[in-house]
Amino acid sequence: MRRELRGWRVLVTGASQGIGEAFALEMAKAGARLALTARSEDKLDAVVQSVRIAGGEAHVIPADLTNELDRKAVLGSAVEVLGGLDGLVNNAGLGSWNHFADGTEQGFRDMMEINFFTPAELMREAIPVLMKGHQPAIMNIASRCGRCALPSWTEYSASKAALVGLTESLRTEYARFGIDVLLSLPGKTATDFLRNCRLATGKAQLKFEEGMRPEVVAKALVNQLVRNKRETWIGRDSYWMLMVQRFMPGLIRRKLASKVRELYAPAA
Ligand SMILES: NC(=O)c1ccc[n+]([C@@H]2O[C@H](COP(=O)([O-])OP(=O)(O)OC[C@H]3O[C@@H](n4cnc5c(N)ncnc54)[C@H](OP(=O)(O)O)[C@@H]3O)[C@@H](O)[C@H]2O)c1
Repeated sequence: MRRELRGWRVLVTGASQGIGEAFALEMAKAGARLALTARSEDKLDAVVQSVRIAGGEAHVIPADLTNELDRKAVLGSAVEVLGGLDGLVNNAGLGSWNHFADGTEQGFRDMMEINFFTPAELMREAIPVLMKGHQPAIMNIASRCGRCALPSWTEYSASKAALVGLTESLRTEYARFGIDVLLSLPGKTATDFLRNCRLATGKAQLKFEEGMRPEVVAKALVNQLVRNKRETWIGRDSYWMLMVQRFMPGLIRRKLASKVRELYAPAA
């Protein structure tokens, strides 16, 4: 099946910057009609301006998506301004770059709220509206860490692995509603993701600025929606890491453990 994006009505979370912003622009170029949400209204306004300059349609719905009432209001507003809904793209997320021993229970729970419970509850709430949509789909932006957990990304990896599990399960359950459920696993992308991390006490050199451009990820996501691909691994790093993990899981574990020992070796 090919999904026709011209006139497709979609709610995009985390659209104020980074991958979500680039995706909104790419979707607008494909003719989609957009409802954009995140907490930063000023940044969302700027994205809407760019969409309109590109000849597209977008509406701002500011919200803290970890808040249940905000979530319900966002879905209601999206349906109202777009006259229904065909798609939901769960992109909003938060990282935490720290060893588990250095984290806190509250911090971990806060991250699970936005990375897991928010998309989970949006997916539940959106069923009745999406069922009435045209070629309806949900796309969840997880991460390569959701399939191959990385040290210092421990809590983040766990939150994305939970999202991967939920996505795979709902893909089969939502078949009864005629809603496609798609999963994306991007690799390192040059956004403010690391700067926005809840904690950043990890030790390795990450060099996010050398990651993929968000526009590259955005194009891959649009292509996934059009082709209705069940799962995509975006970026060379994601592809190779997930291939090695699939065929030589022991090798990856040994390499990572040895790197951790090296970085955390007591000073001589
Ligand atoms: N960058 C990477 O290397 C990478 C790799 C793989 C996967 N990903 C995933 O891709 C997605 C986007 O990442 P990014 O790199 O674009 O990160 P980013 O630049 O930090 O953007 C995160 C987005 O999530 C929104 N958000 C965070 N907390 C929110 C909340 N409580 N309520 C509503 N919106 C909230 C932020 O908006 P406000 O702050 O305005 O609320 C922002 O729009 C995330 O799910 C991330 O895990 C990123």
